[in-house]
Amino acid sequence: MERITIFDTTLRDGEQSPGCSMNIHEKLQMARTLDALGVDVIEAGFPIASQGDFAAVEQIAREIRRPKVAALARCIREDVERAWAAVRDAERPRIHTFLATSDIHLEFKLKISRAEALQQTREVVSLAKSRCDDVEFSPEDATRSDFDFLCEVLETAIEAGATTLNIPDTVGYTLPAEYGALIANLCKKVGNIDKAVMSVHCHDDLGLAVANTLAGIEAGARQVECTINGIGERAGNAPLEEIVMAMRVRADRMQYQTGIESKLLYAASQQLAGMISFGPQPNKPVVGANAFAHAAGIHQHGMLSNPLCYEIMTPESVGAPGTKLVLGKHSGRHALQARYAELGYRLNPAEVKETYTRFIELADRKKNIYDQDLLSLLPIERRSARASAAMTNVGAPIVS
Ligand code: KIV
Ligand code: ZN
Repeated sequence: MERITIFDTTLRDGEQSPGCSMNIHEKLQMARTLDALGVDVIEAGFPIASQGDFAAVEQIAREIRRPKVAALARCIREDVERAWAAVRDAERPRIHTFLATSDIHLEFKLKISRAEALQQTREVVSLAKSRCDDVEFSPEDATRSDFDFLCEVLETAIEAGATTLNIPDTVGYTLPAEYGALIANLCKKVGNIDKAVMSVHCHDDLGLAVANTLAGIEAGARQVECTINGIGERAGNAPLEEIVMAMRVRADRMQYQTGIESKLLYAASQQLAGMISFGPQPNKPVVGANAFAHAAGIHQHGMLSNPLCYEIMTPESVGAPGTKLVLGKHSGRHALQARYAELGYRLNPAEVKETYTRFIELADRKKNIYDQDLLSLLPIERRSARASAAMTNVGAPIVS
């Protein structure tokens, strides 16, 4: 199994997106979680952006000892000095510098020529290297850049001392086969590529960030950049939990390993959700509230027979609370009977038949069915005082 470096940018690309800003204490707490989770590199922030960001990166660099701590810098001398000042106390500091290489960015945003971009790359990567042995370079908007020019910039960055070359799909434009081919061709055409690690950084504007990331790995990338819950600019970055679980679940096809302790994924997701202004959507893979929930009768029956029928990973493997059989109008008799049994009622076949009919009538009218509703469907003489007292979970729909 080949080892994939997990570079987490929750605290930089994630944090810079709407509704995701965190204060220094939250960033530090999250950095501790990322450390416990087993990420290899924490991109802690963009020190030139604000005094607060500088302080957070500096604090993380001083406290977090196992993972590498990276700071982002534009390809500008002042940014690099600021990034270095923030990470210099880290056990294993990294400066990550970037410069756009697509014509659209060069012409309209940076207003510099390709030749100037090359010169800036050489100068600023050399400066970063003189400060820090571990330098990463990203040609921003790489997937919309001219291929030959991209190769030239990357060769220059390696000559100047970059040891990781990250290929951002900055605007989430590329397609999996196309991105895989780009990574493979760069590995072939960039002369000195053997001196650097190839990295992928994919945005999710077309919902392809994970697919593109996996295609990049298969084509030779050995570092992936990702965030918890996929937070990041616009539609977000590739979600760490999805990439890690895709490789774990499909180890038959993708023989790569990471240092991630997958049982901590759900807790990390929840912790982040509590710090920013939104959580993962319910149907979010791996960590969403419905990722292990089943409402349809056929699925519930399958799950009760053998969870492998409808779950390709266990909730325990990612630290999620457990499989939920949500009762509603699509549920079947098996799930209803199982829930009654959990509540202490063993229904005989006639009772199941009778209760199920009344349950479906009710479920047609109500979105959420609660334990009290189930209780109310039983004949009064069947409701025990103990069970009635236990029927207090008014806040949540029935799950088992
Ligand atoms: O998406 C992007 O291009 C970036 C770079 C700074 C790496 O986040
Ligand atoms: Zn990005």
